[in-house]
Amino acid sequence: MEVSVDIIRELNDTKLQELIECDEDTYNVLRTEADKVRRERYGTEVFLRGLIEFTNYCRNDCYYCGIRCSNKNANRYRLSKEEILDSCRSGYKLGYRTFVLQGGEDLYYTDDKICDIVSSIREEFEDCAITLSIGERSYDSYKAYYEAGANRFLLRHETADEKHYRRLHPDSMSLDNRKKCLFNLKEIGYQVGSGFMVGSPFQTTGNIVSDLRFLQELEPDMIGIGPYIMHSDTPFKGYDNGKVSMTLRLISILRLLFPYALIPSTTALGTLSPTGREDGLKAGANVVMPNLTPVKYREKYEIYENKICTGEEAAECRDCLERRIERAGYKAVTSRGDVKSLIK
Ligand code: 5AD
Ligand code: FES
Repeated sequence: MEVSVDIIRELNDTKLQELIECDEDTYNVLRTEADKVRRERYGTEVFLRGLIEFTNYCRNDCYYCGIRCSNKNANRYRLSKEEILDSCRSGYKLGYRTFVLQGGEDLYYTDDKICDIVSSIREEFEDCAITLSIGERSYDSYKAYYEAGANRFLLRHETADEKHYRRLHPDSMSLDNRKKCLFNLKEIGYQVGSGFMVGSPFQTTGNIVSDLRFLQELEPDMIGIGPYIMHSDTPFKGYDNGKVSMTLRLISILRLLFPYALIPSTTALGTLSPTGREDGLKAGANVVMPNLTPVKYREKYEIYENKICTGEEAAECRDCLERRIERAGYKAVTSRGDVKSLIK
């Protein structure tokens, strides 16, 4: 099968499904083409984003997630504003020019608190991008964070299929609201990231086609995907993990469907395979997110089991990642790394 940006864009759902389920030979063609497109757009640059997991409290109860509110075994923590700023300071010294503040949906961080944290980071690190990944909030809240200085927002849609969504989430959550949040964020002016888990329980290839179609509709700047990984303290205890091979081929398909996109090679990929993140880069990804969370909290942000990078200090994690990026044949860069979307 021949693959190129033009061919892939024109595929109907059936053909796209065939491509997702393709054999190893076709995948090799797909990966080569994806790497070519990524080099045309971004060269060999891989952008580093300093990730600060600032709270593992969450009001939601997603069936797949280790920090869901009904997991009584989760050891909860929150970072103070000073701890967050200190993490940014360490990150800045290591060269990071993007900070990603990620957490569960924790309403302890009111709009005022988030705005205060964001504007303090903005004041001290004028040249940095501030990314929030804190889940669903109202249009006005998102707008207030944007005005306080946040530039980007990550909110994976998780699955674009209503029936599948219902099997992964309790009734209190809604796919429509999640989609609405994503369009609100875009309207406000954020660079928006979305994405989904690969191989989450009950996922079909048809569901993945819906995910890709939804992303085509949203046109996000960033697209994060990673394999689903089981956590024993969830209702999905005992379910199979997602597949690394399927995640890699989807990264290549994403690169061809969205040549301009910032696509991370995720920690979940690195957790399931020792070379997962390197392979993700070779498949078309161009972002990695080294962990900047203070080490004493790292293990507690356990959304899935055996998560890597929980023991290393920020500097070690940075060096480790830089070596991995180079070993894969790419170059770690510390610039802000905004999306190159002028020509889509
Ligand atoms: N395995 C893999 N990824 C998960 N996420 C949540 N739980 C799991 C899990 N068990 C992903 C979700 C979320 C992101 C922060 O982590 O896609 O958006
Ligand atoms: Fe974090 Fe290797 S990437 S320690």
